[in-house]
Amino acid sequence: MSDKSIHEASSLTLSALVRARRTIHEFTNEMPPRELILNALDAARWAPNHHRTEPWRFYWLGPATAEHISLLNADIVRRKSGEDAANAKLRRWRAMPGWLAVTCLRNEDPAREREDYAACCCAVQNLLLLLWEAGVGSKWSTGKVTQAAPYFDALGADPKTEFSVGIIWYGYAEAVPVQARPALATALRELA
Ligand SMILES: Cc1cc2nc3c(=O)[nH]c(=O)nc-3n(C[C@H](O)[C@H](O)[C@H](O)COP(=O)(O)O)c2cc1C
Repeated sequence: MSDKSIHEASSLTLSALVRARRTIHEFTNEMPPRELILNALDAARWAPNHHRTEPWRFYWLGPATAEHISLLNADIVRRKSGEDAANAKLRRWRAMPGWLAVTCLRNEDPAREREDYAACCCAVQNLLLLLWEAGVGSKWSTGKVTQAAPYFDALGADPKTEFSVGIIWYGYAEAVPVQARPALATALRELA
């Protein structure tokens, strides 16, 4: 999708915006404005959250932390798939322009923690849609590195009190994938 057609997305109704947002795998190297990201994060927090626990934590990563996490990830890939795969992955991760890491607060009550994770996912979806509305694409990633202790060290987060929701990469889309979804009837059961 060209810049022009991405910006046309911002005039979409909410229904059209929800349908049009796609996970973006290739970004240009242009960085969206700082204010745009802050505004999107601020609005994203208006997600439903049971008991108003506000369980989300957002880590906005600068280049040094992004590089550190990219190298941690490459180490994991190297152990599993070898040097070439690790280098390819490193190149891809280094090409990601904007980086956010999202975590959720742990709770000793598993039911509460599950609901808090649901709330975090609502906040992330808000974020992805708000970014898309502003012409910014994103990708939610839950790769293995996001479960690793050194990842939490890199964030300065305590894995005993927070768990990972994922990395959100963002930037301007180089291309927007086309996707079809099954008919609503596959998911809907209407009852008397
Ligand atoms: C919880 C969650 C984790 C995801 N993790 C990854 C991931 O690790 N790698 C990836 O390529 N996509 C990941 N995705 C994106 C999905 O693959 C993507 O949403 C799906 O293919 C549907 O495409 P769409 O986002 O364009 O609708 C994740 C999505 C969610 C909701």
